[in-house]
Amino acid sequence: MRYRKLGRTNIEIGAVGYGAWGIGGTQWLGGSDGESLAALRRAIELGLNFIDTALAYGAGHSEGLVGQVVRDAGSRIYVATKIPPKNQLWPARPGIGIEEVFPYDYMLRSTERSLKNLGVESIDLQQLHVWNPEWIGRDEWRRGFEELKRSGKVQAVGISINDHQPDSALELIETGLIDTVQTIYNIFDQSPERKLFPLALARGIGVIARVPLDEGSLTGAIDEHTHFAPGDFRAVYFAGDRKRQVREHVESLLRDLGVEAASLPEIALRFCLSQAAVSTVIPGMRSLRNAEANCAAPAKGPLSEETLAILRRHAWDRNFYD
Ligand SMILES: NC(=O)c1ccc[n+]([C@@H]2O[C@H](COP(=O)([O-])OP(=O)(O)OC[C@H]3O[C@@H](n4cnc5c(N)ncnc54)[C@H](OP(=O)(O)O)[C@@H]3O)[C@@H](O)[C@H]2O)c1
Repeated sequence: MRYRKLGRTNIEIGAVGYGAWGIGGTQWLGGSDGESLAALRRAIELGLNFIDTALAYGAGHSEGLVGQVVRDAGSRIYVATKIPPKNQLWPARPGIGIEEVFPYDYMLRSTERSLKNLGVESIDLQQLHVWNPEWIGRDEWRRGFEELKRSGKVQAVGISINDHQPDSALELIETGLIDTVQTIYNIFDQSPERKLFPLALARGIGVIARVPLDEGSLTGAIDEHTHFAPGDFRAVYFAGDRKRQVREHVESLLRDLGVEAASLPEIALRFCLSQAAVSTVIPGMRSLRNAEANCAAPAKGPLSEETLAILRRHAWDRNFYD
């Protein structure tokens, strides 16, 4: 593992962190708690010390598993979680006021629930699970974050940016009132490079790069024959014609790179880590095999300029979350 500073916080976190959505047990089907716990523990043995979870992941189930591992770990593990939108709408919708999404009392109550699920005294990083730039001048989130930090229940605060909208956080970063942003960043969505990353670097804001494998397409494992059970989030994300589109894009990427599909996850993670602004990349990984492979990626260093130039041509502007 290699370590990077999480923005201006004093936290040094592993360049690969653990994305804990998949272990929530409701939106990602398949896998078992036992297997997920083993993968997470193995990742920690390999030096991983940062986990991203959320109250919404299995209504606290993911936080419960994370808490179990963190409390038993012999080393310091940093945990980030998220306050779900009170109106349960992902992503944040324009025109809906913050009083319906993150009222002050609700922010405090939600944090108490997360502390209980995790079984810890304090949360290292608390994030708003959605963000709408129309809320910038409102009081609620400022007071909520201020009180959570003052009480010591939270050490650092940030937001998880709406899917494929990296620029919606620029104004918020300029307030100086948040420590981190979490954004989709992968070979297909390279848009944070334009404005978000330079600003985050300049202001000392930590960047958590999420969905580095595009929910699985950048593993090379998805084609027209891939089946996701009804109820699995990926049955919607890869619905209709999208599996074919993904296969064609990935085939073209592999051809250009001149590599086999088995190399793709590592290249996808190193792509994210080639950016100085990225503090950590957080793949979901519920198997020992994937945990071991992903934790080995940072030691390989950044990709060459030549490889990055090829990857630049494979940016793909689309939104499968819609
Ligand atoms: N709005 C938000 O705030 C938001 C939204 C989405 C995600 N996130 C965060 O970002 C994290 C990462 O995103 P994600 O989990 O949705 O998707 P992802 O990391 O892009 O992809 C996860 C998929 O890739 C597979 N995988 C991982 N490593 C692999 C490897 N080395 N070889 C082959 N396959 C591999 C995983 O398999 P297995 O799991 O079966 O091992 C899983 O199917 C989430 O867990 C969550 O913490 C946040």
